[in-house]
Parts: sequence; C-alpha cells; structure tokens
Amino acid sequence: MKKNIAVIEGDGIGPEVTRQSVRVLNAIADAYGHEFDYTYCLMGADAIDRTGNPLPDETIAICLNSDGILFGAIGDPKYDNDPAAKVRPEQGLLKLRKSLQLYANIRPVNAYPSLQHLSPLKAKNIEGVDFVIFRELTGGIYFGEKNLSEDGNHASDNCVYSREEIERIAHLAFQYAQTRKKKLTLVDKANVLETSRLWRKVVQGLSTQYNEVKVEYMFVDNAAMQIIINPKQFDVILTENMFGDIISDEASVISGSIGLLPSASIGVGSALFEPIHGSYPQAAGKDIANPLGSILSSAMLLEHFNMKEEAGLIREAVNWTLQNGFVTKDIDPVNFYFTSTIGELITDYVSGKIPGSVKMENIELRKSTII
Ligand code: IPM
Ligand code: MG
Repeated sequence: MKKNIAVIEGDGIGPEVTRQSVRVLNAIADAYGHEFDYTYCLMGADAIDRTGNPLPDETIAICLNSDGILFGAIGDPKYDNDPAAKVRPEQGLLKLRKSLQLYANIRPVNAYPSLQHLSPLKAKNIEGVDFVIFRELTGGIYFGEKNLSEDGNHASDNCVYSREEIERIAHLAFQYAQTRKKKLTLVDKANVLETSRLWRKVVQGLSTQYNEVKVEYMFVDNAAMQIIINPKQFDVILTENMFGDIISDEASVISGSIGLLPSASIGVGSALFEPIHGSYPQAAGKDIANPLGSILSSAMLLEHFNMKEEAGLIREAVNWTLQNGFVTKDIDPVNFYFTSTIGELITDYVSGKIPGSVKMENIELRKSTII
C-alpha cells in the first residue's frame, strides 16, 4: 500500500523521537511491501523562528493532502516564560487541530507488567489497567473567546460547547466502548458548570442508542482521585478538552512514564498521531528522550491505515524492549539506553533481526556517573 505521511517534527525532543518513528515505519514498509512517502512541514517555535508563523499555510495544505500526520512535540521555554508574547508555538497546534477538525483525541492508558515496580502507584492497583481516554479536542475553554482588559488586571476564557460537538465524539466513544468492556465514564463538573450539564444531558440522551454500554458519570475532581486509587474501574473515559488534557497526564503515571503514551486525533478528514508528552526542552538534542510515545503513535497511524498486523508488530517490539530492560532515562535513571538505541532495537525487531542475530552485549548501555 502507498501512503503519504505528513511529518511535523516540531520543537524540543520532537525531532529526535519522530526520527525513531520514521525509522520504524520504514522497516515496516520494507517488511510488508508498503511505500510510505514523507513530506516534512513546520509548526511551533521552530516555525516561528523560520517563518514568523507558528502554523504556515503550507503546513495546513500538506496535512490536508496527506493520508495521516505524524507529529512530535510543541513548545519552547522562551514563550512559556513570557506571558506577554503575542505569538506562541501552541497556537500552531491548536489552529491545526481546528483547521483539520481533529475533534476526538484518543489516548490509551496501559500498565506494562515489566514497569510496574517503577510506577509510584501500588502494583496491585495498576496490574492489568487498560482504559482509553476520549478527549474532545476542538472546543471548550481552549477555543472560547479570550479577553484581557486594557489595564491588564482582568482576564477571561470562555468555555463553550454545542450539542453537535458533544454528540460526534460521544458516538465515537460509545462505539469504541462497544468493542471493549462496554463501559463508558463521562468525566465532567456538572455540579458547577453549565457546559458539563449539557454534556450530561447529551450523553444521557445518546445512551439509549447504546443499551449494552454501561454509562457512569463522575465529577472530574473525583475522577482525578479514582485514576490513582482504582484505575481498573475504567474502560472508556469521555471528557471535554481541558479535563482530558489534565487527566491524561495524570493517567500516564500508571504506565510508568509520560514518555510512553501515544495518541490519535481523529477528525472529519485527516488524522494526526502524536505522543502526549511535551517538548521536554531540557532533554533536547541529548538522545535521552523516550521515543516509545512516538513509536506507539506510529502504530496507531498504521491502524488508521487498516494495517493491523503491522501495528501489532510494533507493539510486540515495544513490549520486547521493555521486558528486556531496554529503557530510556525517564524510566531508569541509572541504567538507561539512548533514544536512538531504542529506535534501532525496535527497527531491528520489526525487520526480524531480533532476538535471533543481535549480540545483546554489544548494545550500548549508558551508565550514570553517580555510581
Ligand atoms: C497536549 C498538550 C497541548 C494541549 C498543548 C501543547 C497545547 O498539552 O496535547 O496534551 O494542551 O492540548
Ligand atoms: Mg497535555
């Protein structure tokens, strides 16, 4: 199969993790006789530096013409620390999500048996955790009207949702729950927010069309606690934009590192695949970032192409590296491997060179200087 993939490496560690994904995708193409053509485009701080615009029109055009988009990360501390900055890297990503109508952000959360001891959570609580967050991505407080008064002392962000915006993602979440453990939890703040009450009403209405799915409603503050104390209760979590942003970072502690979590953003036309982590500028260029969030996002991209076996092979390779202790510094700060080494191991696995002919003792281990 021939596919055009738009690649946005972005900022910070974005380029180095995305490069590992492209390597793995190339190995998949070779192994299965596919042809992947990549078109690189700019977004974020990198795009501002080169063009003055966090999302050049050319990037939107390339993405619209692609079969799928692979994205790295966005953000730069020089903007984070300047609240007065008129142009911000994140505006690029938000505009891209809106322009492509990527309204559903799907974030799977799993516990990896070989990493359970690294999670700050108790192993017995996280064993077998497997849930998926459906985060609404193009509405809510992120996109409502924003104001700063002239004297600079008052600011507001408006949170707006329409029935239609809620319905389209709720249908996806219900349909997904039907293929899984058939449970959907709507996370909201319906005891306080009008928008949340609309979410509840719409989801209650739709639930009659999905009789076999058990629906639960949970306030976001309680959900934040339940994700830590009893994450096994969840199957599909449906929530609005901002709550989804927050609880998905929180949920990543179940896996052991935020660097492991992939995501897919599905829309009206194109779809975009990105790790949920940020640009982690402190690690940029050091070859220490975890490439698995990006590589697992590539697996979701392949699933989007209906290449299920190929996606499964990538997941198998990722599990193999984790089970054999090939992990980056975020997971093991003492005995860790480079970003590029992990990418190479997964590429080799996908190409069928592992475990057979690889000399494990030749794989370079970076020992910390503290021991
Ligand atoms: C995410 C990120 C983005 C968001 C930022 C970079 C704008 O945190 O994808 O979770 O808040 O959506
Ligand atoms: Mg986030």
